[in-house]
Amino acid sequence: MTAGIDDIAIYIPRLYIDAADFAKARGVDPEKLQKGLGVSQMAIVDTNQDPACLAANACLKIMQKNKLSPESIGRLYISTESSFDESKAMNSYVIGMLEQVYGQGAFEHCGGVETKFACVSGSYALYDNANWVRAGEAEGKHALVVVSDIAKYDMGTSGEMTQGAGAVVMLINDKPRLLAFDPKVTATSIKDEYDFYRPFGKETPIVHGQYSNLLYMIQVRKALETYKKKALASGLMKLEAGESVLDHIDYLNMHLPYSNMGKKALAYLVRHEWRQLPRWKKIIQEIGLPEPVPKDPRGTIESVLGDQEFMAKDHEFTKLFTKTSEFQEIYESKLASSLIASKMIGNLYTASLYLGFRSCLEFEYQRGIDLNGKRVGFGSYGSGSSAMVFSGLIQPEYKEIVKDMNLEAELAPRRKLTLEEYEILHENKLTPEESMLHTKKEFILVNVNTTVESMGERRYIFNE
Ligand code: CAA
Repeated sequence: MTAGIDDIAIYIPRLYIDAADFAKARGVDPEKLQKGLGVSQMAIVDTNQDPACLAANACLKIMQKNKLSPESIGRLYISTESSFDESKAMNSYVIGMLEQVYGQGAFEHCGGVETKFACVSGSYALYDNANWVRAGEAEGKHALVVVSDIAKYDMGTSGEMTQGAGAVVMLINDKPRLLAFDPKVTATSIKDEYDFYRPFGKETPIVHGQYSNLLYMIQVRKALETYKKKALASGLMKLEAGESVLDHIDYLNMHLPYSNMGKKALAYLVRHEWRQLPRWKKIIQEIGLPEPVPKDPRGTIESVLGDQEFMAKDHEFTKLFTKTSEFQEIYESKLASSLIASKMIGNLYTASLYLGFRSCLEFEYQRGIDLNGKRVGFGSYGSGSSAMVFSGLIQPEYKEIVKDMNLEAELAPRRKLTLEEYEILHENKLTPEESMLHTKKEFILVNVNTTVESMGERRYIFNE
């Protein structure tokens, strides 16, 4: 049975900081953010918003747009790494908010959980819900899979340049208008790692930045290897001599902690894929350097990162490789459009891959490309760490959804924060009622209980 993404909606907070202002305040060259990382603006949550609010606002949008009744929703899953309770699942808060609009008990029949595995958990939730549909358990109902996060790092750290916030919700069913998942090819990799993690009670993560960059690429490559085996074994793809699996994928959507990570990961995967192919010889000639190898090719990530001579040569090689016409072609045609939204919004952790998918659809459609039947490959990564690679085909009805996408309009009106305002928000110095904006027709957080007997209880309202 077919299963896939029927529609997609986003909710992005209206406050943002500008990369140039931020760089100036931190004494960093603005080019490092804009060109080096691909960050122009970072969305920031107001004092009366939390990840559950963002998720509920996204859910309301998709339900209203599709005139969905609560009875037609069989499952509501939330994936997040910004959880604020160790026991009560975030989807229960969202159900509570939605019932303020749809009526008490309207979602009583619905099931679902909150899932966690850093930024990859949304992909697991998507896979599990697609399988719920494929198994015939959905009985005509839809699943809502929401990915919602606030990417927040300690002030003054290098991670602070890669913040953001927002939620994406996907409507999953057996007649998807946007994308039908390719069956029997979803591939995963997993390893016990400490590249990025957030211990209990800590609001911000502990990050080993360069380690996490390299681990991301290694784990996705491993999952891609398995994907390739599955795609060939299942007959989804047949490789002619000299072909790579990437030649059979029209668009690549990668996890985007910052937009240039997509380009970095693409370069890494393409190098890995093309190295064995006849075309590599010509590319090496064009680059004019041999591909560098670490002193200990079977070494650990630490030993590779510690091999400074290799790292410098590899950096230079990658820069030259990304300038070749062969790489430029694959970058422009398969990846570039998925990076646009990330530059404007920043890191959404679990949601960043799916914001990239939405960006790819909108901006490829605007380029006048016929997307019908195009294959989209997804490279999902979660620190800690696990990767998932999967794919799907864009469906004939996609225009019904994509023609109305307008990121600029959805983001507006945005308010730029001064650095002083941003730092006040970052350090949680204000209460929910001291919000910077007074939005209407949105769910907002009103109060978090601090009494001993009801500590942590959250109260939300729909702001009429
Ligand atoms: N002008 C133009 N470019 C410049 C520049 C300048 N003046 N200065 C530096 N750059 C370039 C660098 O060359 C580099 O580009 P390349 O990677 O193409 O070489 C880029 O800007 C970034 O510079 P650095 O690598 O020196 O930056 P950094 O080490 O200070 O910080 C970071 C980068 C490690 C990603 C940091 O922001 C960080 O720790 N972020 C959080 C962790 C993270 O996002 N990890 C990604 C993988 S893990 C994951 O994906 C899970 C998740 O969601 C967090």
